[in-house]
Amino acid sequence: MIPTTPAAPAAPASPDRPLRVVSGMRPTGALHLGHYHGVLKNWLALQSTHECFFFVADWHALTTQYDDPSQISAHSLDMVIDWLAAGVDPARAVVFAQSQVPEHAELHLLLSMVTPLSWLERVPTYKDQQEKLSGKDLSTYGFLGYPLLQSADILIYGAQQVPVGEDQVPHIELTREVARRFNHLYGQTGKTNTHGEPIVRSLLVEPQALLTPASKMPGLDGQKMSKSYGNTLGLRESPDAVNDKIRKMPTDPARVRKTDPGNPEKCPVWPLHQVYSSSETRAWVQEGCTRAGIGCIQCKTPLIEAVVAEQDGFRARAQPFLDDPAAVESMLVRGAEKARAVAQQTLQEVRTTLGLRLPR
Ligand code: TRP
Ligand code: SF4
Repeated sequence: MIPTTPAAPAAPASPDRPLRVVSGMRPTGALHLGHYHGVLKNWLALQSTHECFFFVADWHALTTQYDDPSQISAHSLDMVIDWLAAGVDPARAVVFAQSQVPEHAELHLLLSMVTPLSWLERVPTYKDQQEKLSGKDLSTYGFLGYPLLQSADILIYGAQQVPVGEDQVPHIELTREVARRFNHLYGQTGKTNTHGEPIVRSLLVEPQALLTPASKMPGLDGQKMSKSYGNTLGLRESPDAVNDKIRKMPTDPARVRKTDPGNPEKCPVWPLHQVYSSSETRAWVQEGCTRAGIGCIQCKTPLIEAVVAEQDGFRARAQPFLDDPAAVESMLVRGAEKARAVAQQTLQEVRTTLGLRLPR
């Protein structure tokens, strides 16, 4: 985790108040091991050091899937079960769905009043995604506002840090700019510091991106593991399927016969050993491969065992929720209640600042 911007939180964390992080994931369905070894392990670490808010960005899913929202709810459930399977703990992190916390939407609306269109138009993901998903009409209001909704997701909790991947950094930058503009517009104290500069109250906290190191998790073909490459192992994939997929993996093309020596550096199985195998097993692979002492199926066996063993833990943690999906729903309801309690405080201050009176 590498902070990309200097720390300048409005409300510095004190020893008795841990830093707050917020992060969301669009519901794309069941997750794969790349998600686990990248984002989720990072979340697990944060759970014990930070006050965490983790949510399903289901409104964000609608910005691109408005033409067919039928899968969003099933995908959300699958994804949350994967979070829990990986060890996200609702007793330590607030876990919820964005659409259950309407305060995000109200803050998004209010932020839209102060956000210049040009700021949104120049966010790189805007044009990139429009080009990438060219079959879809993304010239919508909702899609342009995607990063501003994300800003609201973050600012509503006053989070100091946001764990995200590299591609999301421009969204965090936008969030900082919007917070700064809001503070300048509404946080003037009328006082100046010793340099004669106006003292501005930080009504909204400017967050920092906490960069999740790019997942090095290799896929079945040696490229990065990604749904779009079709080279994934699911987080809770069945042992049979894992066995099958790894056995079918291509190996060093120079090893046509078992008696041909190979080079692990030229084999997509090797990077998986680097994630899953002990140094003894790796030494055994190096030796056995380069001297043609082991066959490729033999080489893959301990790898299959290690992946299946890791997944056994995931499957065991997921089972109670698969048996009782209503338990997931009620966990999300409780999460949304906790999230709303915090979100309502921020929103109340924002409303007051803007001179909006609450109906009583
Ligand atoms: N845009 C993020 C992504 O695609 C998901 C997201 C939505 C998010 N709201 C957020 C991430 C708030 C961090 C904080 O990955
Ligand atoms: Fe790849 Fe292992 Fe076969 Fe060598 S022995 S080519 S590392 S699968």
